[in-house]
Amino acid sequence: MPEAVSYEQIPGGQDVKPSASSRCGLLCCAACVIILVVILVLIWPAVWWQLTESNPPKNLRPKLVSFFEIENLTANMPPAPSNYPDVLRGYIWMDQAGYYGASQVPSASPDLVLSFGDPLHPLDTTTRSIRVNTTGPCWSWANNARAYLHVATDRASNFTYKFMWDESFSSAVIYSCTSTNGHESCRLNHGNGLLQLKLLIIRQSPAKDMCPPAPRATKADRASCAKFVRVTRLLFPGTSWTIPFLQFNYYVFQIAGDDGTPVEPYFTAYVDFAKSQCQPAAASAQGYGINCEGECLKNSSAFIAVRPGQ
Ligand SMILES: *[C@@H]1O[C@H](CO)[C@@H](O)[C@H](O)[C@H]1NC(C)=O
Ligand SMILES: *[C@@H]1O[C@H](CO)[C@@H](O)[C@H](O)[C@H]1NC(C)=O
Ligand SMILES: *[C@@H]1O[C@H](CO)[C@@H](O)[C@H](O)[C@H]1NC(C)=O
Ligand SMILES: *[C@@H]1O[C@H](CO)[C@@H](O)[C@H](O)[C@H]1NC(C)=O
Repeated sequence: MPEAVSYEQIPGGQDVKPSASSRCGLLCCAACVIILVVILVLIWPAVWWQLTESNPPKNLRPKLVSFFEIENLTANMPPAPSNYPDVLRGYIWMDQAGYYGASQVPSASPDLVLSFGDPLHPLDTTTRSIRVNTTGPCWSWANNARAYLHVATDRASNFTYKFMWDESFSSAVIYSCTSTNGHESCRLNHGNGLLQLKLLIIRQSPAKDMCPPAPRATKADRASCAKFVRVTRLLFPGTSWTIPFLQFNYYVFQIAGDDGTPVEPYFTAYVDFAKSQCQPAAASAQGYGINCEGECLKNSSAFIAVRPGQ
């Protein structure tokens, strides 16, 4: 009985017919699986970032959002106390998008600047741990619909980052913490499902003769002047071991001192970036219980998810 076989048509070529040598043996099959896994590992971060942004939470009303002029950031966020180690001082901008420095992050969150000055979460000097609350007074967001969604999500799960510094405060492992009904859990793994991510922040020692970078410096040269590199490593599923050689970096620049004095050229880069991300979306904001009026409607605004002093 003749077999019904359909052959793939190659444009301008001949029909492709299976031959004995093209049949997939065990070895070939193993190669396919390995290639598939590698592709998954490479594209999954992008997919994951998309996924985490497409599930709007319900019943969220972060009403305390406060908008301010992008250039007036430091007047609206408390600095770290002056007795903290130097590494925790000042205002730092997370250039995930690689707007100024280099970045390997496939999709940037709408985060802007943080400080370690939240009075609710002081530095624990015994464990060298400190929390940063993304819906607290020391974390700022670009003014756009994606940020409103992030804020609503983070507020709903009582989300904070916990930085665990090493003895010399030269690097920290970052945990993500959530709490429901008073029960808190902190995780080393920031991914979900297949993709397991470990986040680190590592202090750099910028070369004095190369920094601050010249106006026409490459992104790589600018990156070497950043205060920190933020490293995302992939974990072997179910373990705390990282997969060698697979990591995504972006750079974190100090844009102002504790007293609000801008550190240039990074401050200007942050201002330009924040303006490029500012897309007030009043209707979307309303959906999250955020009143977008006044300062929010200006094309030069950013926000924190709480009123100053709260
Ligand atoms: C800067 O922000 C502070 C605190 O919100 C506010 O009092 C001040 O008027 C702002 N200045 C400008 C120029 O927007
Ligand atoms: C984060 O900060 C906001 C504003 O200060 C506060 O209401 C909320 O409880 C904080 N979340 C945690 C987990 O501390
Ligand atoms: C968040 O924490 C507050 C107090 O810290 C608590 O009242 C609230 O129920 C928590 N939210 C959730 C979703 O568990
Ligand atoms: C921002 O708004 C100001 C004043 O409302 C306007 O002059 C300026 O052209 C706007 N810039 C952009 C990029 O829309």
